[in-house]
Amino acid sequence: MNVKAYAKINLGLHIVGKRQDGYHDIETIFHRINLFDELNIENSADISISCSNTSLPTDSANLCWKAVELLRKESGITQGAKIGIKKSIPVGAGLGGGSSDAAAVLTALNIMWNLSLDKAILCGLALQLGSDVPFFLEKSSAYAEGRGEKLVPMELNLPYWIVLVHPNIHVSTPWAYTRLAEYRNGIFPQRPQLNDRIGLSPAAGVLQADNDFEEIVFTEHQKIRKIKLQLKELGAVLSLMSGSGSTMFGLFSDMLSALNAVQFFSKEFFVHMTEPYFIPESND
Ligand code: C5P
Repeated sequence: MNVKAYAKINLGLHIVGKRQDGYHDIETIFHRINLFDELNIENSADISISCSNTSLPTDSANLCWKAVELLRKESGITQGAKIGIKKSIPVGAGLGGGSSDAAAVLTALNIMWNLSLDKAILCGLALQLGSDVPFFLEKSSAYAEGRGEKLVPMELNLPYWIVLVHPNIHVSTPWAYTRLAEYRNGIFPQRPQLNDRIGLSPAAGVLQADNDFEEIVFTEHQKIRKIKLQLKELGAVLSLMSGSGSTMFGLFSDMLSALNAVQFFSKEFFVHMTEPYFIPESND
């Protein structure tokens, strides 16, 4: 089975508070963009993984391997899977590449192995793999709370060109959470909910979204702050970091400004552009 595993951006990200289990409650809007890894998944006696990006592990440390193991345990099935990953999503970039790949494996094997596991079960398995993984089981964009697993689907027809700029800096997610908790002294202010503040329909006008990790990440990496300002100067109606970074994205109302931004940043960085009203293909 051949499947596309799309990248996501966070249209705003609030850290709401620290939980008893060590994780943080968040509030965000997940939205897929037209950048994807391609997975080929075949039945096999054992588990094996090959990946076009040789810096990634292809053993049991790979999230896709863990996804197969979890499904085996859940279903009692003893067979494995041969997974080929053509990687296009930058790694450790706040774009959910590894999470999306793992969710694609869960979805594909649920079909290939005739497991008929329902969404609640799959979501539980996905959450064991990572906080962002449940979102990638959804077909649409989603408003998320909890660790990211309490999802309300949203039909988001974004009328903007989305320009991604990945500055080849790796930001560790645990580091970003720890730094933010220190910086806030463990106190997370109450704010109006994201979906009340974010104007997502064209009629609602300019977007107002923020990402709590920006202040932490920008202090450490001035280069990323500069990209945010440059995207604005180049005409983005919103420029924001995705996840815990380091990818920045700009939303542009007109194609020429978006193309100009692509040209500007591509001299130095990985750049990608998604067209307005983009809707991903479904895997099931
Ligand atoms: O769930 P995931 O494996 O992606 O999380 C990586 C790390 O990020 C966690 O171990 C935790 O330190 C932090 N995290 C958190 N709260 C979340 C998501 C992640 O504290 N909602």
